[in-house]
Amino acid sequence: MNKEVMLVTGAGQISMAIARRVGFGKKIVLGDKNRQNCRTIAKIMTDAGFDAEPFEMDLSDRASIKAMIAKAQEYGEIKYMVNGAGVSPSQAPIESILKVDLYGTAVLLEEVGKVIAKGGCGVTISSQSGWRMAQLAAEEDRLLAVTPAEELLSLKMLRPENIKDTLHAYQIAKRCNEKRVMAECIKWGERGARLNAIAPGIIVTPLAIDEFNGPRGDFYKNMFAKCPAGRPGTADEVANVAALLMSEAGAFITGSTFLIDGGATASYFYGPLQP
Ligand SMILES: NC(=O)c1ccc[n+]([C@@H]2O[C@H](COP(=O)([O-])OP(=O)(O)OC[C@H]3O[C@@H](n4cnc5c(N)ncnc54)[C@H](O)[C@@H]3O)[C@@H](O)[C@H]2O)c1
Repeated sequence: MNKEVMLVTGAGQISMAIARRVGFGKKIVLGDKNRQNCRTIAKIMTDAGFDAEPFEMDLSDRASIKAMIAKAQEYGEIKYMVNGAGVSPSQAPIESILKVDLYGTAVLLEEVGKVIAKGGCGVTISSQSGWRMAQLAAEEDRLLAVTPAEELLSLKMLRPENIKDTLHAYQIAKRCNEKRVMAECIKWGERGARLNAIAPGIIVTPLAIDEFNGPRGDFYKNMFAKCPAGRPGTADEVANVAALLMSEAGAFITGSTFLIDGGATASYFYGPLQP
C-alpha cells in the first residue's frame, strides 16, 4: 500500500519535532540547504522507525522547490507539508532573510498549493517577531498577501533602503508569511486542503542559540525570563500545535496563525516587556 506523502522543508529542530509527531507511517521527504543537516535528521528519524529521506534543496530557489516537489511526488500525491526552513536575524544578511524567509516561503506555499491532495494540510513556521512589528497599512498588508511571488522583492516596502536592519527584514518576512497563508489558503481550499501558520516565540534550537549568542542575546534572554511562562519553549511544544492543526480536530482551521510564545507578545504590549 502506498504511504501518504509528507514534504518537510528545513531539517531543523522544529521541523523534526513536527515530523516525528505527525509523520509516523508516512513517506517523509526532508529537504534542507545544508546536506549534513538533512542527512543527520533523516538518519535520526530513520533510526527511530520513521521513513524519512533527505533531499538537498534551497527554499530561496523556485527550481529547487519544484525539484523537491517532483521527488516527493514519486511516492504519490503530497498530503502534508511542513515548512520549518529559515534563517534568523543573527544568521544572515537582509537580502538572504528576504530571499529565504519571505520569497521562498511564498513560492513554496504557491507550488505545493498547486498539487496538494484533497484532505491535505500544510503548516509553515512564521514567528512572534512578526507580531511585535508595528501595524502595517491595510494596503501594505494586501501587497504582502497577494503580490505575485516573483514581484515580491521588487515591492518598494522591501527595497533595501526601506529595511532598517536584519531584525526588521525578519519581522516583515514573518508578517508576510502569515499574509501569504491567508491568501493561499483560499487556493488550497479549492483543492479540499488546509493551510496554517504557527508563530513561535523563543524555542531552544540551533537558530535560537545563534540569537542568544548574537548582538541581541541579552534582549532575548530578558524576553523569556520576563514573559508570563518565564522560560523559552521547546520544539515539541510547537509540535503540539501542529498536531492539532494537521489532525481531524483541526478540520475547521485554515488561513490562521497560532501564536505560541509563553505570553511574550502579550507582555511586550501590556506587561513588563514593554519597550
Ligand atoms: N527557534 C526559535 O526560537 C524560532 C522562533 C520563531 C520562529 N522560528 C522559525 O522556525 C523555523 C525553523 O527554525 P528552527 O528554530 O527549527 O531552526 P533550526 O536551525 O533548527 O532549523 C532551520 C533549518 O533551516 C535550514 N535552512 C536555512 N536556510 C535554508 C534554505 N535556503 N533552504 C533550505 N533550508 C534552509 C537550516 O539549514 C536549518 O537546518 C524558521 O523559519 C525560524 O525562523 C524559530
